[in-house]
Amino acid sequence: MIRIEQVCKTFRLESGKKVTAVQDLSLQVATGEVFGCIGPNGAGKSTTIKLLLDLIRPDSGNISINNLPSNDESSRARVGYLPENPYIYDFLTAREYLSYAGHLSGLSKTIIAERSNLLLEKLKLFQAANRKISGYSKGMQQRTAIAAALIHDPELVVLDEPMSGLDPLGRKLIFDLIAELKQQGKTVFISSHVLTDIERLCDRVGIIVQGRLCYESQVDQLSAPLDELFLQVVQQAGIEEVR
Ligand SMILES: Nc1ncnc2c1ncn2[C@@H]1O[C@H](COP(=O)(O)OP(=O)(O)O)[C@@H](O)[C@H]1O
Ligand SMILES: [Mg+2]
Repeated sequence: MIRIEQVCKTFRLESGKKVTAVQDLSLQVATGEVFGCIGPNGAGKSTTIKLLLDLIRPDSGNISINNLPSNDESSRARVGYLPENPYIYDFLTAREYLSYAGHLSGLSKTIIAERSNLLLEKLKLFQAANRKISGYSKGMQQRTAIAAALIHDPELVVLDEPMSGLDPLGRKLIFDLIAELKQQGKTVFISSHVLTDIERLCDRVGIIVQGRLCYESQVDQLSAPLDELFLQVVQQAGIEEVR
C-alpha cells in the first residue's frame, strides 16, 4: 500500500542553514498492515508523513500509495489523514464539520449522514454534535479531527500522533477505533510516543532517528520491550541534542 524509496528531504532555514529532516529513508507498508512509526521529537516522522501525502515534495527518492505515485492526487482518494496539529473550523459544529469533510470527498448527503452518525457515536461526540467546536475540550477537538479523517471510510489511514492531548478515556476510544480499523483490514500508518499502544496495536514498527530509519521489526519479534529498544536505538544513533 505504501512504498517509500530512498527519500531525502532538506529544509532551508531563513538563516540559510540547512536541516536534513529525512535521509535516505525507505520503507514499505503492506495492505492491511498496521505500521507504527516512532522516534524522538524532531526525528522526521511528520515530515515522512507529509512527503507520503504530497504536502511537501522530496529532494530525491520515490513515493507511492497503492502503486500510484504520491504526486498523482488520485492516490489520496481513499486516504484519511489526521495531521499532528489539526486545523478544524471551530465556528462549525462537529456535524457541520463532518458534512464539510464528507462533501470534499464527494460523498452523498445520505452517506454523510450515515457515516457521521456512526463516527459521532463511536467517538462519543453524539451529545455535543450540534454544538460549536470552539466550545469543545482539546480531546473532543482531536476526536472530531479523527472522525473527519475517517468520514469517507478510507483504505489507508495516516494518523500523526492521534493520542496527543487525550485523557485515558479518549485514548482508549482511539485505541479501540484503530483496533477496529485493523480488524476491517484497513492499512494504518501511525506515529506516536505512546509506545504501549504502538506495541499492542501494530504489526510492525520502525524507529526513526535524525531522519533515518534506524530499526524495523515485526512487533511479535521484538528482542526487548519497545521502550527499552527505543532508548537503545536512540543512544546508538548518538543523539546529542534533545529537541
Ligand atoms: N517546514 C520546515 N522548515 C524547517 N525545518 C523543518 C520544517 N519541518 C520540519 N523541519 C525540521 O525537520 C526535522 C524533523 O521534523 P518533524 O518531521 O516534524 O519531526 P517529528 O515529527 O519526528 O517530531 C526537525 O529538525 C524540524 O525542525
Ligand atoms: Mg511530528
